[in-house]
Amino acid sequence: ADIDNGATIFAGNCAACHAGGNNVIQTEKTLRKEALDSYLDGGRKVESVVYQVTNGKNAMPAFGGRLSDEEIGDVAAYVIDQANGDKW
Ligand code: HEM
Repeated sequence: ADIDNGATIFAGNCAACHAGGNNVIQTEKTLRKEALDSYLDGGRKVESVVYQVTNGKNAMPAFGGRLSDEEIGDVAAYVIDQANGDKW
């Protein structure tokens, strides 16, 4: 996966709700390590982010059909890299 491309996709599709790794709608459900461990279905891994981005969850829209599988893989890799490295 291309993490740099993931950063670009994040800026264009995710940052409206998740700028800085935050969450403007469900404020506790950030993209930081501890929140992903607590709330992300399947746990803090790339496959879990791919699933949620593809299918959506509650107020988060589904991106399947709007982003390609490759783009979703890239943005998921970026999110996990940011979280694992405490980069948010
Ligand atoms: C939750 C990623 C776009 C709203 C999450 C979570 C991830 C994520 C990994 C789980 C966080 C956690 O449970 O702590 C992304 C990515 C996006 C994106 C990579 C772009 C491709 C958006 C957008 C919105 C949004 C545009 C608002 C319109 C939400 C909400 C939740 C959430 C409300 C909490 C869902 C719930 O558990 O009820 N997002 N997101 N997301 N996201 Fe996004």
